[in-house]
Amino acid sequence: MKALETRTDIEELVNKFYDKVVIDDTIGFFFTDIAQIDLKKHLPKMYNFWESILLGNPVYDGNPMRVHFPLNQVVALEEHHFDRWLALWQQTLEENFEGENVATALLRAQNIARIMSYKMKIARS
Ligand code: HEM
Repeated sequence: MKALETRTDIEELVNKFYDKVVIDDTIGFFFTDIAQIDLKKHLPKMYNFWESILLGNPVYDGNPMRVHFPLNQVVALEEHHFDRWLALWQQTLEENFEGENVATALLRAQNIARIMSYKMKIARS
């Protein structure tokens, strides 16, 4: 087990997370069917997002909330989807890394997921 401390570590983490996500029975279809993401374009955004959060380098310049609203209009993004997302994130973190940034990555994801889930719910009502 190693610390989560470089851009290379973050790329490995995100790649391994997406290996799980795209084949997942509960949330995979958001990525493969609804958004039909091009991983070559999508993954670098995720690397940048997590590098900004975990390493403090401001390389991500997007809006992490915005892209989820159109998905939520096609199929409701509900709490059980966020629970599954978080479970896969935690599993990937703990299978591959240890240390302070593992806890930070989990806590930040939990906080963002809670806010995102709330915003999606409000947008549907
Ligand atoms: C069930 C929960 C979630 C689903 C199904 C989901 C799905 C997606 C999809 C399909 C995209 C690509 C959208 C596009 O480019 O058209 C995306 C982008 C993204 N997601 Fe999520 N997401 C979820 C939760 C989260 C959470 C909890 C976070 C943060 C911790 C997050 C962070 C991001 C970021 C940073 C992007 C890239 C935004 C950009 O283009 O700059 N997502 N998500």
